[in-house]
Amino acid sequence: MTETLKIAIAGLGTVGASTIALLQAEPTHGGSGRNIELVAVSARDKTRDRGVDLSGAKWFDDPVEMARTAAADVFVELIGGADGAALDAVEAALGAGKAVVTANKALLAAHGMKLAALAEANNVPLLFEAAVAGGIPAIRTVRDSLAGIPIASVLGIMNGTCNYILTEMERGGRSFDDCLAEAQRLGYAEADPTFDVDGFDTAHKLAILSSIAFTTAIDSDAVLVEGIRRIEPADLEAAEELGFRIKLLGIATMTEEGVDQRVHPTMVPRGSALAETAGVLNAVSIRGPAFGELVLSGPGAGGMATASAVVSDLTDLARGLAPSPLGRPSATLSPFRKAAAAGHKGAFYVRLPIADRAGAFAALASRMAAEGISLEQIVQKTPHRPEDQPALSDQTVILVTYPTTEAALGRALKAIEEDGIIVRAPHIIPIAHSN
Ligand code: HSE
Repeated sequence: MTETLKIAIAGLGTVGASTIALLQAEPTHGGSGRNIELVAVSARDKTRDRGVDLSGAKWFDDPVEMARTAAADVFVELIGGADGAALDAVEAALGAGKAVVTANKALLAAHGMKLAALAEANNVPLLFEAAVAGGIPAIRTVRDSLAGIPIASVLGIMNGTCNYILTEMERGGRSFDDCLAEAQRLGYAEADPTFDVDGFDTAHKLAILSSIAFTTAIDSDAVLVEGIRRIEPADLEAAEELGFRIKLLGIATMTEEGVDQRVHPTMVPRGSALAETAGVLNAVSIRGPAFGELVLSGPGAGGMATASAVVSDLTDLARGLAPSPLGRPSATLSPFRKAAAAGHKGAFYVRLPIADRAGAFAALASRMAAEGISLEQIVQKTPHRPEDQPALSDQTVILVTYPTTEAALGRALKAIEEDGIIVRAPHIIPIAHSN
């Protein structure tokens, strides 16, 4: 082990610049006692002032060449994207015998198994604490602190941009677009924010965490994904009246049939740890029979928070720690077995725009009863109308079901649709009663 850990960083955006600022604030790194020295950098624009001192670092226009040839012990990949330069550079670095630290969840979700095997074959570490939930040590907790302990589920709020948008929409009645633009300005959002708002960023993080928690191969294609675009002010208002908040959750559960991985807006009870996680904060809940529930919360996005996770990985390398990328040798992970979505059981919120006519309500209730679905709450919202217009237009009915299966609810709603009772597609949000 040399006195100094030499690092090369590819990608000097918000996280890259913050990582350098953090390291330069404490070059003799307190956690390890070894110097961490920045010897090489690569980014798209050489001329941009990033507010950090790059004078001691060799500049590379090509990150792949840097990965191959820089005189560094560690290659830090902060380029982003599942393929292209990020993948090529990480493969080149591992192939050249360099340790890799990355914050790139899209890369790991798509190629994590291949990259873990490559790291193991070259006997070098591949660390990625920053890839999941920003500044929260979620990977370390599942991989190291809970090593060998059965885990039943991992779930949580894993996208700061979505949580920021939902919180701001709820608090200020502001539009989705306005809140998204602000999240982008604050540096929380991905280069392509559809990854955030359509749930894919959460899905990538969930698939990585789920692999480590359940010792199975990563399978990000096996995540059921729905983002937050369909959330309307009416849903946020109804949630408040019913005692919930709406959060975009990633939920991975070990079932007898296999692993159930899902990302969707979820009603969580007000007062619970997840409901009170506001703004850009993330929260990860891990449950297991031996330890009950752990909830970790903290900043899930933003330059410094994510950089702190990168620096913690660099410090582990400086200390000489080299855990297997996915907790145990990748060849010993079980193949991923996907649980059937229709078998998923839970309570649901359903918002139904219904035609205003006699018997509509009764027909709706009887279709639910025919599928054995018991209703916990029914709220009928009558729109305000002037007195001289007695004919009502559509009404909204909000139902809260007792636990049922997705399949039974789907059948009941299909029958209701065939009865011609509803005027637009129903809006369904699962309810998590115990978070
Ligand atoms: N765009 C991500 C988020 C950044 O909003 O959480 C951290 O992965």
